[in-house]
Amino acid sequence: MYYFAVEGGTRLSGEISVGASKNAVLPMIAASLLADRGTTVLKNVPNNADVRTMLAVISQLGAEVDFDKKSHKVTIDASRVNSYEAPYDLVKKMRASFLVMGPLLARFGVARVSQPGGCAIGARPVDQHIRGFQKLGAKISETHGYTVAKAKRLRGTVLHFDRPTHTGTENILMSAVLAEGKTVIINAAQDPEVVDLCEFLKKMGAKIEGAGTSRITIRGVSSLKAVEHKPIGDRLEAGTFLFAAAATGGKVKVRGCPPEHLSAVLFKLEDMGAKITGGRNWIEISAPRRLKSTDIITDPYPGFPTDLQALAMAALSIAEGTGVVWERIFENRFLHVMELQRLGANITILGDRATIIGVDSLSGANVMASDIRAGAALVIAAMSAKGKSKISRVYHIDRGYERLEKKLQKLGAKIKRKEE
Ligand code: EPZ
Repeated sequence: MYYFAVEGGTRLSGEISVGASKNAVLPMIAASLLADRGTTVLKNVPNNADVRTMLAVISQLGAEVDFDKKSHKVTIDASRVNSYEAPYDLVKKMRASFLVMGPLLARFGVARVSQPGGCAIGARPVDQHIRGFQKLGAKISETHGYTVAKAKRLRGTVLHFDRPTHTGTENILMSAVLAEGKTVIINAAQDPEVVDLCEFLKKMGAKIEGAGTSRITIRGVSSLKAVEHKPIGDRLEAGTFLFAAAATGGKVKVRGCPPEHLSAVLFKLEDMGAKITGGRNWIEISAPRRLKSTDIITDPYPGFPTDLQALAMAALSIAEGTGVVWERIFENRFLHVMELQRLGANITILGDRATIIGVDSLSGANVMASDIRAGAALVIAAMSAKGKSKISRVYHIDRGYERLEKKLQKLGAKIKRKEE
């Protein structure tokens, strides 16, 4: 087990590039199962635990997988997939493994996937995924903790999500592309990762319109071929460096993520007194000596992303004034608050709202990561704190970042990975 030893007080500065978006790569790895011929190639793929887990899932299904960690290139040949079961031990490691259900059902007419179960940030049911498959004609049964879906051939339909679900939209997209006839998804997720998945599927031969809007139309085709693709840059990794620069009064240029993928976040950072400039595929932030506080409401894209809520809270902890964070996506995504309080933050939780009264400075302490983004928030808080901090359970952070400490060291942070 590793921990991060962090010494606060350095203003971050310099340039950093982000890898491909984890949340774009994961569904694309699942979508590679749809190709009955050719080799899928994904570029700039980050070497993090979630990507490695998803590759393990599809190789368990019989796909041939190679991940060249130096060139960050993934190649997948799914022509000889011969199993349709995603086992508990892999799905429990990463709930996004549930994304193989759509492609397996579409290509083979059968899928047996362990139910993902909850996680630290909430119950995270998959009822919307299941209802979508049923509407497309699949027979669903749930036995021994597995969801089994069967369908001779899926039939196009109109389906309406109760609420925009990111992977729910992706799972249904990946089943409808091979269904008979037309499918319309209403109240679809509009995230950039969903748009990029649609680009990827269209390259494979799928017929999709409306990606990025709340209404996506898919016309089923008979087969899909494997293609090459460079997924979009990781807007959550980019946001991590922006909030790190904001919280340490630094000046950082982040390459690889278009500003429009983070417009809600950039708007809030300007609210907090940061100067933001940007170009086609880069964003530069110049932070003030002290941030001003602001209020944040998380919402489905293009609203403020729930995944950057904890990081924003770390920056708000030392801002001038009082801010309220209203978490409207997950029911338990304030686990980082108790840890931020150990660093001296003044935060009160009332239901799904947290009130943050900015303090002059935080002070180093021993804290513990509870999920990917909570861990990243603690790193940001520790870099802005006076003195030394120890952040344990770094394996949570390693799920969504490739050697986060190396990139932060490049920007001048005093952070080291050490063995417990
Ligand atoms: C995706 O999770 C991301 N994961 C999450 O990022 C992200 O936090 C989340 O979207 C919200 O943006 C991946 O893309 C792999 P949802 P997902 O379905 O798809 C409820 C990270 O850090 N819901 O959009 O699981 C759900 O409980 C991870 O990389 C249902 O009720 O999220 C939540 O309250 C953490 N029934 C809301 O909808 C369903 O069938 C949004 O969830 C599905 C979802």
